[in-house]
Amino acid sequence: MANVGTSLPEARAMWERNYARGDNVLAWPCEDLVMALGRYARPSPGSRALEIGFGAGNNLRHLVRLFREVHGCEVSPSALSRAQSALDLPAGRLQLFDGYALPYPDESFDCIVCWHVTEYLEPDRMEEFFTGVLRVLKPGGRLFCTFVTSLDNRAADGEPLGPNRYATAATNTTQARVPINAYDHPDQFRHLLKGYQMVCEGRSYIDVGRALDCFLVVADREGAPPV
Ligand SMILES: C[S@@+](CC[C@H](N)C(=O)[O-])C[C@H]1O[C@@H](n2cnc3c(N)ncnc32)[C@H](O)[C@@H]1O
Repeated sequence: MANVGTSLPEARAMWERNYARGDNVLAWPCEDLVMALGRYARPSPGSRALEIGFGAGNNLRHLVRLFREVHGCEVSPSALSRAQSALDLPAGRLQLFDGYALPYPDESFDCIVCWHVTEYLEPDRMEEFFTGVLRVLKPGGRLFCTFVTSLDNRAADGEPLGPNRYATAATNTTQARVPINAYDHPDQFRHLLKGYQMVCEGRSYIDVGRALDCFLVVADREGAPPV
């Protein structure tokens, strides 16, 4: 069994170290997200978007082109200050949070992006996380979310810890072994999407010198949007 813990603080500390060092593995608005938003985002005047776990803010740079009001929350203070200086958004639009308790009122957003984040959640807090996402999404609002596949290099080159759970290898970038969630099939995470109606299930594969391979989900919160 890999000598790696299973707690959120490890993943959180790893990201904070990365951003504090100035590393930025994902130096893009992710092209698969750009395509998914282009096809499914439905921005309208006054609609509000949120990115949970925005990292260095690369996806936010694209979201602000689509949505008039864009918010973001992060667990890493260094990521927050990097994104703040890169984006120049109005005060309060980007916030720190504890990784689970989303600091927004119910039914705040028309669109929520959660991209390359769910792999770092604690397995026994996944439902809590998704209940929070559902709470802050408006009825009829749309979620764009990824779930890492077991063919992703972080899982494939890592070590199995248990069902859908792997210890990553320590790469130059992560410089640490962290526990991640990874799946063979969408049926293994479908229970987390209770309260949603599926719009599109796909796959996002990106080669950044190693394969980032995720299931991609676009889903609507059940219920008609308020008129
Ligand atoms: C792989 S990065 C993805 C960044 C960005 N979404 C992108 O696609 O470029 C994962 C991000 O999730 C953040 N994060 C948010 N909630 C987290 C949580 N509960 N546990 C660990 N990391 C979390 C990390 O700080 C990190 O910035």
